[in-house]
Amino acid sequence: GALCLYEKPEMNGAKVVVPVSILKDGTIKRIQSLKVTKDDVIVASFPKAGTTWVQEIVYLLQTGLDFEKAGEKVLETRSPFLEYPYPGLDFVEKMSSPRVMKTHLPYDFLPSNCGDGKIIYVTRNPKDVVVSYYHFAKMFTPLSFAGSFEDFLEKFEKNELPYGPFFDHIESYVRHREDSNLLIVTYEELSKDPRDVIKKIAAFLEKPLDEEDVQKVVMHTSFESMKKNSAVNYEHWDDLGFRNKNESKFMRKGKIGDWRNFIAPDKNKALDEWISEQNKIKFPFVY
Ligand code: A3P
Repeated sequence: GALCLYEKPEMNGAKVVVPVSILKDGTIKRIQSLKVTKDDVIVASFPKAGTTWVQEIVYLLQTGLDFEKAGEKVLETRSPFLEYPYPGLDFVEKMSSPRVMKTHLPYDFLPSNCGDGKIIYVTRNPKDVVVSYYHFAKMFTPLSFAGSFEDFLEKFEKNELPYGPFFDHIESYVRHREDSNLLIVTYEELSKDPRDVIKKIAAFLEKPLDEEDVQKVVMHTSFESMKKNSAVNYEHWDDLGFRNKNESKFMRKGKIGDWRNFIAPDKNKALDEWISEQNKIKFPFVY
């Protein structure tokens, strides 16, 4: 199916499953030569790790909490996805700083001068990622995954899903964790203590907030608010034909631990073993 539209190129020694189209049409090269400025922020993640959530937080911080502007346009144009054809790199190149860009590429594929800007990597426990990804792959018409959850999990474990291998992805960023321009946040810490993580992101971006403003950002970016907010919930995809209407919405559940509803205890035992084997950097995932 459509998942075959991805292949594994090698870049600076790293291998990753990326959309074939961006290799063929030169997008990858253009991304690498994109000029990143000191006010630019790249929100990077493995798909379904909480990208949208962090993008909206960063957008607010970078615009001095311009809630009005944040509601005027969909996130795709306020915070463009580098390797996706819409709105595209011409658009990204013309945007004025501070730009908030999104990518699912591993570190080694980022613009070569990304060190001049700031990078926020968001990650999430792999079990919730695969459950969220499965629902997304069924829902998103360009992927239209038709198999079972077990089939999808098998693809995840075989490192066949777009942007996989998951553990190489996270490792590519964790390797840079000491860099002053990289901040790593997790979906779980953001869920459990949004105030604290939002403050951490604000400090990293050198945009400190008072307590009242932190609270405003917490409210605006809660799952319940974002689910209702058409500027971030991707409901415009319905009109663009990007969503299989009988499948889940983009803002699906927004919880830690939904994997328990999909992964049976015996499978979970095997999965835990696989994860501990793959997780060479011993990233402390929270389930
Ligand atoms: P679920 O499918 O588990 O609900 P991404 O933006 O990287 O594609 O990740 C999407 C996942 O993040 C989905 O997970 C989505 O519901 C969740 N999400 C998006 N905004 C959120 C928020 N404000 N709070 C909690 N979860 C959020």
